[in-house]
Amino acid sequence: METTTLSGPTPDDAARWHQGALYLAEQRLLPERAEYLRLETAGEVAEAIRAMVVRGAPAIGVAAAYGVVLAGRDAYATAGSSWKAAIESDLARLAASRPTAVNLFWAIRRMRDCIADLGTGDPYADLLTAARALHEADRAANRRLGDLGAELIEGPTDLITHCNAGAIATGGYGTALGVIRSAFAAGKVRRVFADETRPWMQGARLTAWELMHDGIPVVLQADSAAASLMAGGTVGWVIVGSDRIAANGDVANKIGTYPLAIAAKYHGVKVMVAAPTSTIDLETASGQDIPIEERDPAELLGCGDQQLAPAGCLARNPVFDVTPAALVDAIVTERGVVMQPNAEKIRALMADGVA
Ligand code: MRU
Repeated sequence: METTTLSGPTPDDAARWHQGALYLAEQRLLPERAEYLRLETAGEVAEAIRAMVVRGAPAIGVAAAYGVVLAGRDAYATAGSSWKAAIESDLARLAASRPTAVNLFWAIRRMRDCIADLGTGDPYADLLTAARALHEADRAANRRLGDLGAELIEGPTDLITHCNAGAIATGGYGTALGVIRSAFAAGKVRRVFADETRPWMQGARLTAWELMHDGIPVVLQADSAAASLMAGGTVGWVIVGSDRIAANGDVANKIGTYPLAIAAKYHGVKVMVAAPTSTIDLETASGQDIPIEERDPAELLGCGDQQLAPAGCLARNPVFDVTPAALVDAIVTERGVVMQPNAEKIRALMADGVA
């Protein structure tokens, strides 16, 4: 994998297909350095997802879809007309890269649907068309759900967001930040308080970068400062994205979302979860069934290269938590809004949806 400065990336251009390769914004370097990583194999894409070069549930799905294009190209080069059998090991590698964001598995399933429709000839062009369509559909979904979510906000008000559910975490525009972008354009946003989001600092590094890039007033705060801010009475909504929404409306998102929702309930602040329907997993009955990724404790024991905890200190590093549906006021998708979500309403959304 090599990095390149191929004019960018900007927040809205996190994944690009260029001259037969996938270029991903190197999110671990942002905002200090804006560079692309050039990826030429599905194995490199899987490793980029695991290592957090690309992160954010929909963006992981988009990257995996392009990973399948690379897998198909390699499988055809090595196995010719038997490429469908040869591609399986790469599909398995992509699926094993991270466990929680269901968009990864959704994207691989979509690409499998495309594979099923193909013959034994070279699949490259058709797979690329399918990946590009998936990418573009995610961007369009975010535009739509952004507008729907903004309609729920009475402004001007302060907002809190957690982690980064922005353009760079998606195919474009963002989910939670998509709602915030649309609401800001409608004059409804006074300030956005961005939780810094330990330990990867997605809020400090990425959300602040995106919002400042768009001229949206953003104030960074420690994760633990959110409850006392709510007590001040200026915050109308907590708006977050999601990595997986279970069939009963329970929401997995970045660790720290659950305590934020508890604090919001106590203070009468509303909670909005903004996500495309590719994040809804009807096969997972409740939040208890969502696999929660545990990452290397080393990520928590220091900050960047700086060791913080004493050598030998034990640490646990679950990187997502589950917010029960009862703490969520609205799930906003491109197909529509579900207020006070439950299993019946989620089922109806997915059955009646037009997308
Ligand atoms: O570990 P990350 O950075 O991939 O976690 C990302 C989040 O938790 C986001 O809030 C979620 O994926 C939604 S992104 C639109």
